[in-house]
Amino acid sequence: MLPKLSVAAVLLQLLGAVDASSAAARSVRPSTLLERAGDLLPEYDYIVVGGGTSGLTVADRLSESGQYTVLVLEQGIYQNSPFVTTVSLGFWGLLDPSLTFNIPSVPQPNLNNRSIAVIVGKVLGGSSGVNGMQVLRGQKEDYNRWGSYFRKNSDWSWDGMLPYFKKAWNFHPPSAELASQMGIKYDTSFWGSRGKVHASFPTFSWPVLKMEMAAFGDLPGITYPADSGSGETGAYWHPASVDPTTVQRSFARPGHWDDIEAARPNYHTLTGQKVLKVTFEGKKARGVVFVPADATEQIQARSVKARKEVIMAAGAIHTPKILQASGVGPKKLLQDAGLPVVVDSPGVGSNFQDQPFSIAPTFNFSSFPFHPDFYDLLTNETFIAEAAAQFAANKTGPMSIAAGNCGSWLSLQVISPSKWQQIATRYEAQDPAAYLPSGTDAAVIAGYRAQQIALTKSMRSKDSATYNFFLRGGYEEGSVVFLHPTSRGSVTINPADPFFSEPNIDYRALTNPTDLEILQEFTPFTRKYFYETRLKDLDPVEVSPGSDVQTPQQIEAWLRNVMNPSTFHPIGTAAMMPKNLGGVVDEQLAVYGVQGLSVVDASIIPDLPGSYLQQTVYAIAEKAADLIKERA
Ligand SMILES: Cc1cc2nc3c(=O)[nH]c(=O)nc-3n(C[C@H](O)[C@H](O)[C@H](O)COP(=O)(O)OP(=O)(O)OC[C@H]3O[C@@H](n4cnc5c(N)ncnc54)[C@H](O)[C@@H]3O)c2cc1C
Ligand SMILES: *[C@@H]1O[C@H](CO)[C@@H](O)[C@H](O)[C@H]1NC(C)=O
Ligand SMILES: *[C@@H]1O[C@H](CO)[C@@H](O)[C@H](O)[C@H]1NC(C)=O
Ligand SMILES: *[C@@H]1O[C@H](CO)[C@@H](O)[C@H](O)[C@H]1NC(C)=O
Ligand SMILES: *[C@@H]1O[C@H](CO)[C@@H](O)[C@H](O)[C@H]1NC(C)=O
Repeated sequence: MLPKLSVAAVLLQLLGAVDASSAAARSVRPSTLLERAGDLLPEYDYIVVGGGTSGLTVADRLSESGQYTVLVLEQGIYQNSPFVTTVSLGFWGLLDPSLTFNIPSVPQPNLNNRSIAVIVGKVLGGSSGVNGMQVLRGQKEDYNRWGSYFRKNSDWSWDGMLPYFKKAWNFHPPSAELASQMGIKYDTSFWGSRGKVHASFPTFSWPVLKMEMAAFGDLPGITYPADSGSGETGAYWHPASVDPTTVQRSFARPGHWDDIEAARPNYHTLTGQKVLKVTFEGKKARGVVFVPADATEQIQARSVKARKEVIMAAGAIHTPKILQASGVGPKKLLQDAGLPVVVDSPGVGSNFQDQPFSIAPTFNFSSFPFHPDFYDLLTNETFIAEAAAQFAANKTGPMSIAAGNCGSWLSLQVISPSKWQQIATRYEAQDPAAYLPSGTDAAVIAGYRAQQIALTKSMRSKDSATYNFFLRGGYEEGSVVFLHPTSRGSVTINPADPFFSEPNIDYRALTNPTDLEILQEFTPFTRKYFYETRLKDLDPVEVSPGSDVQTPQQIEAWLRNVMNPSTFHPIGTAAMMPKNLGGVVDEQLAVYGVQGLSVVDASIIPDLPGSYLQQTVYAIAEKAADLIKERA
C-alpha cells in the first residue's frame, strides 16, 4: 500500500530532505569501501556475493576476529537518502527506482496472463534497506519442519533458531504508556538486547487499532500469545526494524556495516559491481567474475579469488541465477544455454515461493468515531503538517510508525472450521508431480512430496498460521497475506543471455488447486471479522470485491484479476534439503557436489515460515556465520 507520490513529495519536504547521493559515506570505514576494483587484493579468505541483509550480517561476523580477509561485492551502492532512512509509512524505498530491482515476471496464465513486478532490494543493505520494517517470527513448527527434512533432532529447529533470533536483534519494549493504552503484550524472554539490528515500537498508535485487535478475540479459536516472538499463532503486536534513538530504519547496513566500531583492514567492500559467475578449479569454487553494475558485456570483467569459500548472498532471485550461470544447476537448462556443467543440481531455481497478497475483501467503516487514523497521514494536510512538526521536534508521534505493528496470524482451522479437514486430506492425496512442471526432476518431485506431507501436518495444526491480516489503523482495512501457498514456481537463466539478462521468474501462481481452495475460505472469514465481531458497530461496508461476489466461481474470477503472488518474500530457490529431495545446500549451507561454495540468504529456506521474512533471514545469517567459522 503505497502513499501517493504527491503525499510523498509533501512528506519529504517536511522532513527536510535530501542528500540522495552516496557522498555521505565516509571515505574510510571500518570495512574499507574500495573506490576502484583495481584496489582489490588478488585473493580473500571469503568472498560474499551480495551485500544485502544476509551478506552484510555474515561478512560482519566473519571479519570481526580479524583472522580472515573478507570481500563483499554488491551490485547497488551506498545510499543513505530519506528514501532509505525514513520510517513513516514503511515503503519509501519503493519510490526511488534506483534502490530496487524491478523485474517483470513471466506472464501468469492463472492470473489472466498478468506479469507481476518482482521487487527486491539493490543497495548496500539489500532488501532490509527497502522493506516495510515489520519484524515477525514464524511459528515453532516452521523451523522444526525445516530440520525434519533431514533427521530427528536436526538443529534447524525452533530451539536451534531461538539463540540466533536473540543474537540478531536488540529488542526495545514499547513505552509503558503505549503498552497499557493499546493493550500491547510482550515478553522479553524471547528477545536479546545486544543484537546489531533494532526492533522497537513507535511512540504513537492509531486509536482504532485497539478495537480492531480486540475484535479478533470475538471469533472462535483466536488467542493472544505472550509475545510476537513466542512462535505461536494468534493476534499480536510486533516491533519494527527502527532504531529508537534516531527513529530511522535499522537494517543490515547501519547495524552490520556502519556501526562496526574499529577499522578492520581485513574487510573490504566494493559496491556497484555485478557478479556474473563463480569460477571453479575442478569442483572447488575458487573465486568470482564481476563487472561494473552498468556493464553490458564481459569485456570489462574482472576476477578475484577466494581461498576458503565463496558465499552466495544475492537473494532468492539472483543467487539461483548466478549459480546456474556458473554451471551449478539443472543440466538441461545449462546445456541449452551453452554453459559447461560443473554439477548437475536440479533443485537450483526450482521450489520458488512467495506469499500472495490482495486476496481478501477490503472494508470501509461508515461510522468511524476515531481521529486521527492512518488515512489522515496520507490525505489530511493539516494533520501531516502537525505530525511532521512533532517528528521534527521530538522524533515521536504518527511518523514514528512504519508499515504497521499488529495483526493476526491464524491457522486454517480457525479460518475454515468446516472445510479445513477436507482441504488437508485432498492436498495430502495429490500426486506430487501433478502440479509441478512436466519434466520435473525426480529428486525435486520427491522433495515436493516431503513438503506436501509436512505442509498437510501444518494445515491440520492449530499452531501453524495460514492466514495473516495485518492492520493499518484506518477507516479502510483489508490487507491479507496467504502464508503457505502450495504452488511452486521457478527462477531460471535466460538461455540466450545467461550473464547479463535478468532471469525468467515464474511464480506459477495458482497452479496447485489447493491454493484456490484455501483462498476461497479467506473471503468468508474476512467478512466474518467485519460483520460478526464488535467491528459491526462501525457499520462496515465491503468496498472490494463487493457483496455481490458470493459464489466460489465469482470469488475465483475476482482473485484471478487482483491477486498478487508476491509480498516481496521470495524464497526456496537453493533449498536446504537433502540432495535426494532436490536440495541445493546441506544442513551446513554448503552447496552439494562442489567444495568452497555456500548459500546464506533467503534462497535456502525450504518452505515459507508463517510470517514475513526479515527476522528469519537475519537469524539464518547469524547461524550461517557460525557454521562457516566452525569449518574454517
Ligand atoms: C519491498 C520489500 C518489503 C518487505 N517488507 C518486509 C517486512 O516488512 N518485513 C519482513 O520481515 N520482511 C520484509 N521483506 C522481506 C525481507 O526484507 C527479505 O526477505 C530479506 O531482506 C532478504 O534478504 P536476503 O539476504 O536474502 O536478500 P537481499 O537483502 O535482497 O540481498 C541481496 C543483495 O544481493 C545483491 N545482488 C543481487 N545480485 C547481485 C549480483 N549479481 N552481484 C552483486 N550483488 C548482487 C542485491 O543488490 C542485494 O543487495 C520485504 C522485502 C521487500 C523487497
Ligand atoms: C494467456 O495467453 C495464452 C498464450 O498467449 C493464451 O493461450 C491464453 O488464452 C491467455 N489466457 C487468458 C486468460 O487471456
Ligand atoms: C468510508 O468511511 C469514511 C469514514 O467513515 C467515510 O467518510 C467515507 O464516506 C466512506 N466511504 C465510502 C466509499 O463508503
Ligand atoms: C485533519 O486533521 C486535523 C488535525 O488533527 C483535524 O482537526 C481535522 O478534523 C482533520 N480533517 C479531516 C477532514 O478529518
Ligand atoms: C516536543 O516535546 C515537548 C516535551 O514533551 C513538548 O512540550 C513539545 O510540544 C513537543 N513538540 C512538538 C512539536 O510536538
